[in-house]
Amino acid sequence: MLWKKIKRILASASLVLLAAQSFASNDDIDSKVDSLLEKMTLAEKIGQMNQYNGFWDATGPAPEEGFAKLKYDHLRSGLVGSVLNVSGYERVRELQEVAVNETRLGIPLIFGLDVIHGHKTIFPIPLAESASWDMDAIERSARVGAVESAAQGINWTFAPMVDISEDARWGRVAEGAGEDPYLGAHIGVARIKGFQGEDLAAVDTIAACAKHFAGYGFAEGGRDYNRVDVSPYTLHNTILPPFKAAAEAGVKTFMNSFNTLNGIPATGSAFLQREILKGKWGFEGFVVSDWASIRELIAHSYAEDDKQAAEIAVKAGSDMDMEGYAYINHLEQLVKEGKVDEALINDAARRVLRVKFELGLFEDPYRYSNQEREQEWLNHKTHMAAARDVAKRSIVLLKNESSLLPLSKKQKNIAVIGPLANDKNSPLGTWRVSADDNTAISLVEGLKQYNENFQYEQGVKFSVGKETFADQIEVNETDRTGFEEAKQLAQSSDVVIMMLGEHGFQSGEGRSRTKIDLPGLQQELLEEIYAVNKNIILLVSSGRPLDLSWAHKHIPTIVQTWQLGTQSGNAIADVLFGEYNPSGKLPMSFPRSVGQLPTTYRLFSTGRGTPKPVVFWSHYIDEESDALYPFGHGLSYTTFEYSKLKVKALGENRVQVKVNVKNTGKSAGEEVVQLYIRDRFASTVRPVKELKGFEKISLASGKSKTVTFMLTEKELGFYNAKGEFLVEKGAFDVMVGGGSVGGETAQFEL
Ligand code: BGC
Repeated sequence: MLWKKIKRILASASLVLLAAQSFASNDDIDSKVDSLLEKMTLAEKIGQMNQYNGFWDATGPAPEEGFAKLKYDHLRSGLVGSVLNVSGYERVRELQEVAVNETRLGIPLIFGLDVIHGHKTIFPIPLAESASWDMDAIERSARVGAVESAAQGINWTFAPMVDISEDARWGRVAEGAGEDPYLGAHIGVARIKGFQGEDLAAVDTIAACAKHFAGYGFAEGGRDYNRVDVSPYTLHNTILPPFKAAAEAGVKTFMNSFNTLNGIPATGSAFLQREILKGKWGFEGFVVSDWASIRELIAHSYAEDDKQAAEIAVKAGSDMDMEGYAYINHLEQLVKEGKVDEALINDAARRVLRVKFELGLFEDPYRYSNQEREQEWLNHKTHMAAARDVAKRSIVLLKNESSLLPLSKKQKNIAVIGPLANDKNSPLGTWRVSADDNTAISLVEGLKQYNENFQYEQGVKFSVGKETFADQIEVNETDRTGFEEAKQLAQSSDVVIMMLGEHGFQSGEGRSRTKIDLPGLQQELLEEIYAVNKNIILLVSSGRPLDLSWAHKHIPTIVQTWQLGTQSGNAIADVLFGEYNPSGKLPMSFPRSVGQLPTTYRLFSTGRGTPKPVVFWSHYIDEESDALYPFGHGLSYTTFEYSKLKVKALGENRVQVKVNVKNTGKSAGEEVVQLYIRDRFASTVRPVKELKGFEKISLASGKSKTVTFMLTEKELGFYNAKGEFLVEKGAFDVMVGGGSVGGETAQFEL
């Protein structure tokens, strides 16, 4: 398969590059860190805990005055440990030279950047990639991001975001793996492996960062930065598991979070950072604050001023202050006044320095910025192929009740309608800091390589005003110019492909929505086109689950195409024309209406779950309770049949589950076989279903395969409110199928 080939190419490239790597042992590193710490002044140690955003002009002469000069002076005095948002051979080198040649001890900087879904070559947004349920593909995506960004001098990414969220109103669901902690943990680990590789000192691997610790995905009302008030049950069973998995996988850094968690700002939470992360989990890397989140302790009404904020944060275990100035301005004084123990500073500086040693920065501070690699690897054709491969695996066929898909390459009279169909920017999604604007392959471009028998009409303008990362998109709500042309085209066509949804800048940080419908006039356009031609293939491009209730009732074929990155149009065309049989499954439930939010398939059963002739049971009076498209849902051009589910308790809390899966359709296809359990009776009520295993298989038409799962204590147990892990004897249900609804069921006793 193509991806195997790509993997080989990437692996061989890495082997060549690995030649210069170092193999320092942990003991070596610890003793080097200790001897360096002995030479450092208190101020220099605090410097290692200080991270600046590199907004000054690093290519020009050092600024002569003002704030930028202050930062530059700090750099020269060894008071800066890390810089973010500086990338590119020249810029990185220039700053690194200052750190290495002009400071007293020559300690190199660590350069951080949000390499979230690719660097120059942009991959699907993380939520989309998660729909692939393909751990190899996801690891490869992170690997490419590491290869490209490392060539530009980056040695640390602020990814993966492993925040679980059940609320599609929250804009940052685009950056995560969806609603399920089990799937989310696997995806987080795959991404960490991709970024960090086998050897952190290799020139093409970078340190990863599990963020945002913790609870950020449970912002009340889905409103970004809002308070988080969750039970200990939710904290331990839903929020923390992906972070724990990240720590166990050896992630080098954590980022804390903007939100309060049950009344305490996460950045100032010793419970999260000291007790759980560094205590229970024994995490040895360092914790960076989120952007100025130490200073924000004041806005949270938790600290009176910067100085107190610094004191709280360092005591709570935040090791590095991102662009917050609280540490650099106050920690030294706090130690001198005896308010902060110098041992805390030593510990934080030690953690930062250890990662720098592990990255190999002390052996060669310039190893990550390399002009030749920069020229060779950015947008490399193997990276483009990998991006297309992951993108097609991320597409989810939500509904296909007509014979419209797959389309024939000879199909005549196709209409392509919708503002996003010809958009080269929006598919790049939310985090594309290093990509050039308008570099995605649009749908219109992608279709051409299969079939040119189509005409395009925009139908409606998407937005009025600026479309940038820092601005709010102003959606066109009034201008219907283009409606008539689109209707005429639809009327005279045999089939209509409509691409509608959200702009790439409508999800991500600071982009919460109270409505999760098709923005602007797009719903109106859809209904008007439907009135003249019902043969519609609706492609939904979005950074979150949208409310597709109307479309589901009327439109025969619906495909979730998210924001798929640089290769978007090519990947969608691969699926539309059947070159790739869709295999994506939803990592997050699509609700029937925004009023159902937050929601998840992992609900508890209520005391009143069964419908009653009177109104007094748990339901909505105006809407169904279940999701429109539940977690795990996704169709294929072929069909799969599940049978012969066999469960065998092997003793010692181990249970083997086997199921037979047959491809009963006409084409070859891939299927994500999903295993869910329900603990029937427990000392804490367990959800009606929980994903505890999955495997993606590939089957030729007519072929079958037996898939075997092993359930162990890890899958069968749960956390109680005190955070203790329990495995309780008793009856369990097991369900195996191609989604979280339906499938084969069986029982076992533990
Ligand atoms: C975000 C982080 C990000 C950081 C640096 C913050 O606003 O919450 O996820 O890594 O900025 O760009």
